[in-house]
Amino acid sequence: MRIVSGIQPTGNLHLGNYLGAIRNWVRMQDEWSAKGGECLYFLADLHAISMPHTPADLGANTREMVAALVSCGIDPDKSILFNQAQVPAHAEMQWLLNGTARMGWLNRMTQWKDKAGKNREGASVALFTYPVLQAADVLLYQATHVPVGEDQKQHLELARDIAQKFNNDFCAEDAPLFTLPDPIIPPEAARIMSLRDGSAKMSKSDPSDMSRINLTDDADAIMQKVKKAKTDPEPLPGTVEGLAGRPEASNLVGIYAAMAGISAAQVLAQFEGQGFGQFKPALGEVLVESLAPMAARYRELREDRAALDAILAKGAEKARALAAPTLNRTYDALGLVRG
Ligand code: TRP
Repeated sequence: MRIVSGIQPTGNLHLGNYLGAIRNWVRMQDEWSAKGGECLYFLADLHAISMPHTPADLGANTREMVAALVSCGIDPDKSILFNQAQVPAHAEMQWLLNGTARMGWLNRMTQWKDKAGKNREGASVALFTYPVLQAADVLLYQATHVPVGEDQKQHLELARDIAQKFNNDFCAEDAPLFTLPDPIIPPEAARIMSLRDGSAKMSKSDPSDMSRINLTDDADAIMQKVKKAKTDPEPLPGTVEGLAGRPEASNLVGIYAAMAGISAAQVLAQFEGQGFGQFKPALGEVLVESLAPMAARYRELREDRAALDAILAKGAEKARALAAPTLNRTYDALGLVRG
């Protein structure tokens, strides 16, 4: 039982990143390590160069993301935490699998179509072969399960197709090389919206800092942002249906539910009939209680470059050791001679 998952490095992390992916990784780490399973989590820095990027930002974002993950509960002694660039087997495996992946399969990938847009001729080759690198990421470690968002399901199916075809083409029937990984799609994570506009996603690129709760915000900042969050004048309804057409109210209730680990219906059962003057301080408290300790760790760790680099180096060393046997068998299966 082995979980493998990757995330593209970004900086200026906020509540949306935490509730979207990070918290899920932490939960899975804790559940799986208790059952004797293994978790490999990596920063997909090689994927990040498939789109135009600024080299100095990529390095900074990679370290910032590690700081965020560790501050939020990823334990480098329980999970293997690393970045692709320090494990050359990812890039090697991608090349080996490029012989198996079909142009037609990649042409059907919706992320490729979306990101390339109308200008396919100008898109990078890396953007086109991005899903093959993603397949390499998981097949390399014989992952049994891959937690991904709904939007990545198609890439995981492609990884299974590549594994299946490789096993068929190059392995004896009773000795397949690659494990076909199963996706784990988390129960729909609440979409966290801007605190200033309930119809826009919470985003690091929103010019207003009041629109988001940063993973660096201290208790005062969190409280202030919640109190200034946009709302409507109505009291809270007793049912989720009553939130229809009230995007800001929905968002705040959704955040409360996600942070308190209860459903929106349960939040409303508790706060029915109350106005935001009462609900906001309660929401602020829930947020401060869970986020403020992580934020304090994050603010400290992100300044400690030596510690972050040591975490990544240690993780990469473990990952390289785990990857080696499958990579060697792949070279062999293809008839590649290597001394
Ligand atoms: N493509 C994924 C995303 O954008 C990140 C990713 C890269 C990944 N390699 C992976 C996820 C392997 C799961 C497994 O979210």
